Amino acid sequence: MAYTISHILVVMLLFPFQCSSSVSSLIKGSSLSVEKHTEDVIVSSKGTFSAGFYQIGDNAFSFAIWFTEMTNQSPDPANIVWMANREQPVNGKHSKLFLLNTGNILLLDAGQHNTWSSNTASNASLELYLKEDGNLVLRELQGTTILWQSYDFPTNTLLPNQPLTRYIKLVSSKSQSNHSSGFYKFFFDDNNVIRLNYDGPDVSSTYWPPALLLSWQAGRSNYNSSRIALLDSLGKFISSDNYIFSTYDYGMVMQRKLTMDSDGNVRVYSRKNLSANWHVSWQVIPDTCIIHGVCGENSTCSYDPKKGKKCSCLPGYKVKNHNDFSSGCEPMFDFTCNRSESTFLKLNGFELYGYDSNFVQNSTYKNCESLCLQDCNCTAFQYSYEEGQNIFKCYTKLQLLNGRHSPSFVGTTYLRFPKGNNFSKEEYMSVADRVCSVQLHKDYVIKPTSHLVRFFLWLSITIGGLESFFFVAVCGFLIKTKKNSSGDQHNYHHVLLGFRRYSYSELKIATKNFSNEIGRGGGGIVYRGTLPDQRHAAIKRLNEAKQGEGEFLAEVSIIGRLNHMNLIDMWGYCAEGKHRLLVYEYMENGSLAENLSSKTNTLDWSKRYDIALGTAKVLAYLHEECLEWILHCDIKPQNILLDSNFHPKLADFGLSKLKTRNSLNNNSEFSMIRGTRGYMAPEWIFNLPITSKVDVYGYGVVLLEMITGKSPTMMNIEDVDGEMAYNGRLITWVREKKRSTCWVEEIMDPAMGTNCDLNKMEVLAKVALDCVEEDRDIRPNMSQVVEKLQSNERVFE
Ligand SMILES: *[C@@H]1O[C@H](CO)[C@@H](O)[C@H](O)[C@H]1NC(C)=O
Ligand SMILES: *[C@@H]1O[C@H](CO)[C@@H](O)[C@H](O)[C@H]1NC(C)=O
Ligand SMILES: *[C@@H]1O[C@H](CO)[C@@H](O)[C@H](O)[C@H]1NC(C)=O
Ligand SMILES: *[C@@H]1O[C@H](CO)[C@@H](O)[C@H](O)[C@H]1NC(C)=O
Ligand SMILES: *[C@@H]1O[C@H](CO)[C@@H](O)[C@H](O)[C@H]1NC(C)=O
Ligand SMILES: *[C@@H]1O[C@H](CO)[C@@H](O)[C@H](O)[C@H]1NC(C)=O
Ligand SMILES: *[C@@H]1O[C@H](CO)[C@@H](O)[C@H](O)[C@H]1NC(C)=O
Ligand SMILES: *[C@@H]1O[C@H](CO)[C@@H](O)[C@H](O)[C@H]1NC(C)=O
Ligand SMILES: *[C@@H]1O[C@H](CO)[C@@H](O)[C@H](O)[C@H]1NC(C)=O
Repeated sequence: MAYTISHILVVMLLFPFQCSSSVSSLIKGSSLSVEKHTEDVIVSSKGTFSAGFYQIGDNAFSFAIWFTEMTNQSPDPANIVWMANREQPVNGKHSKLFLLNTGNILLLDAGQHNTWSSNTASNASLELYLKEDGNLVLRELQGTTILWQSYDFPTNTLLPNQPLTRYIKLVSSKSQSNHSSGFYKFFFDDNNVIRLNYDGPDVSSTYWPPALLLSWQAGRSNYNSSRIALLDSLGKFISSDNYIFSTYDYGMVMQRKLTMDSDGNVRVYSRKNLSANWHVSWQVIPDTCIIHGVCGENSTCSYDPKKGKKCSCLPGYKVKNHNDFSSGCEPMFDFTCNRSESTFLKLNGFELYGYDSNFVQNSTYKNCESLCLQDCNCTAFQYSYEEGQNIFKCYTKLQLLNGRHSPSFVGTTYLRFPKGNNFSKEEYMSVADRVCSVQLHKDYVIKPTSHLVRFFLWLSITIGGLESFFFVAVCGFLIKTKKNSSGDQHNYHHVLLGFRRYSYSELKIATKNFSNEIGRGGGGIVYRGTLPDQRHAAIKRLNEAKQGEGEFLAEVSIIGRLNHMNLIDMWGYCAEGKHRLLVYEYMENGSLAENLSSKTNTLDWSKRYDIALGTAKVLAYLHEECLEWILHCDIKPQNILLDSNFHPKLADFGLSKLKTRNSLNNNSEFSMIRGTRGYMAPEWIFNLPITSKVDVYGYGVVLLEMITGKSPTMMNIEDVDGEMAYNGRLITWVREKKRSTCWVEEIMDPAMGTNCDLNKMEVLAKVALDCVEEDRDIRPNMSQVVEKLQSNERVFE
């Protein structure tokens, strides 16, 4: 078959990065050929985008659109924004793209196979041209009719102002190097909600918004049936279901793109210009372990904001393919159907999602166990307490999928094994823990997270002296690094994820010129405000301290990447001239301190217990969940805020407490001592190494305060039988009371009322006393505290 090939309409020599000739559009009867892939390129009017054959492998090409690359740059597939034939690359010989006289665009592989076509037809004069926004358009030369446009058929990328509509799905690539369709999809569902779906080879499920949440609980509206979402050129994403975000570099003029990445996350990337690298300016899912299918079957995922996720095999299972964890783990034992040959291993804080064979609303442990034993194919069961309904739910599992390690998960998973094996929880824990604890006592490495922070740290070292800086660092965000931690492929920790930068004038308007003060402390004043998107926020304006910048950016970059239900959400920040502001979610019920001291104290015993548990969980998360190792160093009721349901949210860490600088006439090394009198562990005073046990101590004091209603700093002489008040006053008083039999009743805050669960209060009081042991090695760690409080919360068996 012979097509007349009349070539190249306009030769563009305008662009220095496009040294060879290129075309501005294709007309009927003309074609682009793969052999001339460096010249046969359609370029947009200002040169931002190019369309043509892009080499994606040995002798493998795709007809694609990409951000124009400079000739002296090596090709970077990250610049590709669209592909015609992602599943079927064409040969590097004799492949051509034609605009036929019939009006159809046709991609021929090696001169014979039709691999892709636009399925268009027209007798009018047409041209295929590339718009400056990256949209490849087939239009009539006369008139405005558009027959086809690449914006209607995206692959894994949306460009600014390219709408995601009901007719469109973004589908991830297989991997960063294999561009064929992968397992993850981003689209509007039939209920008008934009979601993320894992569509694996065997199973499929939705992981965002979390399947267990109703759409309104996830902050979505399903009433607006227009089903349209758009990223604008300044970095704001608005979806008709009310999902809205702004990139951290919102407002800056950048090249941007939003992609459904091959690891199941949706990210916005931006860069200043075509010679800069792409960096992440937003990602939809901070904790990548919630993405389904990431670790494969029979494994568990733990999340580390710095290094990303980590997959490990469950106890009794071993890795199938070391190069690809998504292929999962295989059992090192033979399954038995015989019930009397089966046994279970209990794993706390381990959650499996999906693949339930049975679900029972209100079950006892024994029933749940026997439900699993009855079924030959049951490999595990999950037994979890349902708050509010006051019942236990039982799920038996056919497959161990989407396993996730998280101390904040309220429930227990029991894995089934044949009797006589010696697979232990420790074995599994050791896998997960290796990252966390092995390095615990090794070198403390100060690892600034961005060049900017590094600069400020350098500044603060030069100006402020090394030792003072070191203490700030210890308490804000001290990091244990793996010795051989390899470079971060995605540059994630160079960016502040999950929130945006606000301008000073925006925040000035939001707070009505800083008129509504709601609190003071932690180096600044907190104001209530309403953000442009109508959310209520607590906006903290930091004192214009000379040394503040380094710590400020440190807190910003660290908190921005943390994510826990009991951690205050930071939405953004402002760093403009001398101004330093932090934007947090607004907490309706103020702080625990205010609630404990208020006359209309509404905190009954069960709320206090929940606050204790929630606070323990978030501390366990900060200390132990294989993160950068973070100490708070200022645990006190003022820093525990309460949301509308009285769930606790930990606030205010990373900021140095400069005001305590002179409050202790101690060794000068402690000039940057952190903490508040009454909550400070003895290590501070005795110049011992600071570990996570300082937070355990502070937490213990807070528990005592919640139980007794007495503040360790306010306790006066009448309260305590005539002795002088000092740091450990409250503790000593409780310890003395413990000698009597009804000690719990004697120490309890009368404001809690009479119908108190004394057993629980006793557990709480004992945990509190363990936490405030002088010897830090005797104090439990925070996940032990969580386990203790949780195991008491529900009575098994
Ligand atoms: C193009 O013209 C032919 C012959 O004139 C006609 O049969 C065909 O229907 C036309 N196609 C379109 C898309 O208008
Ligand atoms: C890309 O993935 C697809 C689907 O798994 C596979 O068929 C194809 O061979 C892969 N291509 C390359 C170049 O690895
Ligand atoms: C539905 O969403 C679109 C796009 O966000 C918006 O323009 C429109 O006003 C919304 N309609 C209603 C009724 O809220
Ligand atoms: C791109 O930006 C970098 C820094 O942002 C700058 O150094 C460089 O000159 C810019 N290049 C072009 C071609 O504008
Ligand atoms: C996971 O374990 C089950 C037994 O619990 C086994 O049947 C299955 O084959 C394992 N999956 C993989 C991928 O090996
Ligand atoms: C199950 O195991 C018990 C104890 O090992 C044995 O006595 C019984 O025969 C087994 N039952 C079956 C059906 O194999
Ligand atoms: C759960 O079961 C127990 C005993 O079977 C029963 O007493 C209790 O009322 C049930 N609770 C609910 C909420 O159904
Ligand atoms: C167990 O699984 C196998 C294959 O997956 C199936 O053929 C069998 O019917 C299942 N048995 C039961 C009791 O569900
Ligand atoms: C436990 O497992 C190890 C190998 O992992 C084996 O050498 C040892 O004998 C086992 N112990 C028991 C009591 O089965």
